[in-house]
Amino acid sequence: MSFARMSTNIFWHDSWVSKSDRQRLLNQKGCVVWITGLSGSGKSTLACTVGRDLHSRGKLSYILDGDNLRHGLNKDLGFKAEDRAENIRRVGEVAKLFADAGVICITSLISPYKRDRDACRALFSDSSFIETFLNMPLELCESRDTKGLYKLARAGVIKGFTGIDDPYEAPLDCEIEIGLKEGICPPPDEMAQRVVSYLEENGFLHE
Ligand code: ADX
Repeated sequence: MSFARMSTNIFWHDSWVSKSDRQRLLNQKGCVVWITGLSGSGKSTLACTVGRDLHSRGKLSYILDGDNLRHGLNKDLGFKAEDRAENIRRVGEVAKLFADAGVICITSLISPYKRDRDACRALFSDSSFIETFLNMPLELCESRDTKGLYKLARAGVIKGFTGIDDPYEAPLDCEIEIGLKEGICPPPDEMAQRVVSYLEENGFLHE
C-alpha cells in the first residue's frame, strides 16, 4: 500500500530560497550516498567515517541510519517485504529533502531489494543518487555478529533475516562498490576515502 496515493486536492508551493541558493551558501551540492549491504557489513561505520571526514573538510552531511530510524520515524515497521519497502520509501523521501536542502545525506540501510532501491533512485532526476554497495561476504558479517542477531536467525528465533532466510539482492550497476582487498576488509578510513574521492571527482564538494 502506498500512503502517498491517499493525498488528494493538494498543491505544490515553491519556497523563495532555491536549492541553488542553499548550495551556494554551503559551497557543496546536495546528494545522497545510499549505502547498502548485509547486516554487519559495516554500513554504519562507513557512514560515520564519511560523515566525520566531510565535517573535517567543512562539508555539511547528515546520516540516516536504518536502525536509528526504526526507533522513531519507522518504529511502526517490521521486516516483511512490504514493511521494508515502506521503510526504504520513507528514507528515500527524507533523503531527497536533505539533498534539496543542499546537504550530503548518507543513508545506511540494508535495503535488500533492488526494486526498492531503484524506486529511490528514480526520485533523483540527476546523478545525485550515489548507490554504494558494501560488498562483504555473509561469512564475515556472520562471524562479526555484533548484535547477536545472526545466531538468533540461525536458531530460527528470528525469521526472515536478510542473508539467512530472506534474500539480499546485490546491486548490479552501483556508483561505488567496496569489497574485500586480497581477502581482507579494508580499514574504515580507506573505504571512506573511496566515497569522499567520488564526491570530489564528481563535483559535489563545491557549488
Ligand atoms: S531494511 O531491510 O529495511 O533496509 P534496516 O537497515 O532498516 O533494514 O534495519 C536493519 C537492522 O535491523 C539490522 O542491522 C538488524 O540490526 C535489525 N534486524 C532485525 N530483524 C531483522 C531482519 N529480519 N532482517 C534484517 N535485519 C534485521
